[in-house]
Amino acid sequence: MSQDNLFNYNHFKFVRLAIFLVLACVLAYLVYTPEIVSYGGTWLGYGLGTLGALLIVWLMWLGVRKRQYAKNSGNLRGWVSAHVYLGMALAFVATLHTGFQIGWNVHTLAYVLMILVILSGMWGLSLYVRMPQLMSNTLNRKSPGAIVEEIESLDKEALKLVKTFQSESLVHLIKRSMSQGIFNASRQRKFGLVRNCETSKACDVIQKKMHENGNLIGLYENQIKRLKSLKQLRLYYCQKYWLEVWLLFHVPLSFALLAALIAHVVSVFYYW
Ligand code: HEM
Repeated sequence: MSQDNLFNYNHFKFVRLAIFLVLACVLAYLVYTPEIVSYGGTWLGYGLGTLGALLIVWLMWLGVRKRQYAKNSGNLRGWVSAHVYLGMALAFVATLHTGFQIGWNVHTLAYVLMILVILSGMWGLSLYVRMPQLMSNTLNRKSPGAIVEEIESLDKEALKLVKTFQSESLVHLIKRSMSQGIFNASRQRKFGLVRNCETSKACDVIQKKMHENGNLIGLYENQIKRLKSLKQLRLYYCQKYWLEVWLLFHVPLSFALLAALIAHVVSVFYYW
């Protein structure tokens, strides 16, 4: 039996609910004949608007539920599944609510923010889907801590190896390589790349010297392994960075949407 995930949770319960919701709203929109023109202020407009506003408040509630259900992941999975599908259904509900009347006002601001939140949600979802698998592949199913330990033992081995050559310049090269951390600056996490990587330099220099001294092969292999482990860690932290960044869009945009939604509702009732 396949395990429940975000997409198929409880036999696609929330896909069915979201499709039903969208179809019901589209049908109501097609059947309802407004007195003048379709917009948020008809009876159907008010109904769809109320439904949309309730959905937004409920979607935001996930932030609270996530923290309450931290210990019960099964239940949280259902919440996130509902969040994803009903979040996408909201785009239809709110678009029908507007009656396609778009302008330069607080109502459209709320609508645009909502679309941005939904788009950012879809971006985040694509990261969630690709990353856990990608991250464990990146690390060859090892933890980042295990890779750091590997680098430490490679460094001990490099120190022993380099002593046998009695060359100041080689010792200096290896010490510089050992001082090379995962990143030189935090901005490098964005791309997972490090220019002027000391370990990479050490590999190049030793490779050239190997033409004169074949015994350097052991040291060369050691530095190549170090570089490979560093690259694995760089890719891992780069991917982790993007997983954190998307929430920096999704959550503040959600709060901006809530503020615009309140302004939208207050202005509608103020000018009623
Ligand atoms: C107006 C619509 C939406 C609002 C207001 C909203 C709001 C939120 C909030 C407040 C959180 C909790 C973040 C946290 O505290 O860590 C969240 C999480 C999330 N949202 Fe949305 N969201 C919306 C639509 C969507 C859509 C359409 C998708 C996907 C297609 C989506 C995907 C996600 C995902 C994957 C999470 C992370 C869940 C987790 O950490 O387990 N959201 N959203």
